[in-house]
Amino acid sequence: VKLMTDLDLAGKRVLIREDLNVPVKDGAVTSDARIRAALPTIKAAIDAGAKVLLMSHLGRPTEGEYAEEFSLAPVAAHLGKLLGRDVALIKEWRDGVELADGDVALLENVRFNPGEKKDDEALSKAYANLCDIFVMDAFGTAHRAQASTHGVARFAPVACAGPLLAAELDALEKALAEPARPMVAIVGGSKVSTKLTVLETLADKVDQLIVGGGIANTFLAASGKPVGKSLCEHDLVGTAKALMQKCDIPLPADVVTGKEFSESAAAETKSADEVADDDMIFDIGPQSSAELAEILQQAKTIIWNGPVGVFEFDQFGGGTERLSKAIAESDAFSIAGGGDTLAAVDKYGIADKVSYISTGGGAFLEYVEGKTLPAVAMLESRANG
Ligand code: 3PG
Repeated sequence: VKLMTDLDLAGKRVLIREDLNVPVKDGAVTSDARIRAALPTIKAAIDAGAKVLLMSHLGRPTEGEYAEEFSLAPVAAHLGKLLGRDVALIKEWRDGVELADGDVALLENVRFNPGEKKDDEALSKAYANLCDIFVMDAFGTAHRAQASTHGVARFAPVACAGPLLAAELDALEKALAEPARPMVAIVGGSKVSTKLTVLETLADKVDQLIVGGGIANTFLAASGKPVGKSLCEHDLVGTAKALMQKCDIPLPADVVTGKEFSESAAAETKSADEVADDDMIFDIGPQSSAELAEILQQAKTIIWNGPVGVFEFDQFGGGTERLSKAIAESDAFSIAGGGDTLAAVDKYGIADKVSYISTGGGAFLEYVEGKTLPAVAMLESRANG
């Protein structure tokens, strides 16, 4: 694909699609990781003397309808603070947006525009009309074939990948295409069903697959262990068995249980053989954490998606904390991505110890599954034709 860093942006109208879909509460941004990840791209375009127009979605509003709770106003204000200058939020843009060289502005939530999610051609062309160069930099939304990610890339005079998108793709390729071995993946989270393709793809690839959270419970059940009232998908026990035959999936020998899902639930550590009928497994135990940390120490490539316990409650965070530290201490090429994983990375303060932290949630998982990201495919086809 063409790269933004290879193009002369001076005096050009540059439209950059970022993923500024960040959590907002009471009109303020509560986690700005995605905004900070986009900053180098935005600054580079400003410094190059471009007329910089940014666009993003926020949340999932009813398409085509303005709703204040989904306005990008808090994001524009936050970005303005980080850049040290005002970032205007533009609601009316169809007749063009007047900007001076080195100026920056943000279009209001693209999902307020009818046709955005359907990748509408007229809307895609309207975006394309705003620019001389379209920069796709929103890795987190690259799995969506929508007008602001895919359609606009088709019709813009020039379409290229921004530095953040390029870095994400490079890191993922390094981890997945020709990984240094041993290669270990950690897949946590609540359900096997939502991560089935990820588990199947990784089971074919990695040397060891560490499962955690509700996912591990289904594997424990598959190996004949009692899981009590734990979250467990009994209908997927057969699938779990098949995966265990394909790949080395070390299961926890000890677990931390509680009687109720609550912040104040009492935690009890026990052998995985001794889980009672009214127990719920909320974390892996210290012995298991130590064994898994050992595996991570030997690894040369680590892919991490999902916590191994209910780490938002401290008494059930020991396993995720121990594994976070093991990843931080390892000299493997490590990559972390997908929703909750970043919250764990933040909570245990290992952000600067992970080789690469992806801004993608769904996009990260789809890449790992080996799926084509439509917005990237469009950049490729533009570069080749
Ligand atoms: C995400 O948060 O995963 C991306 O911003 C995509 O959002 P979406 O799932 O609403 O398309």
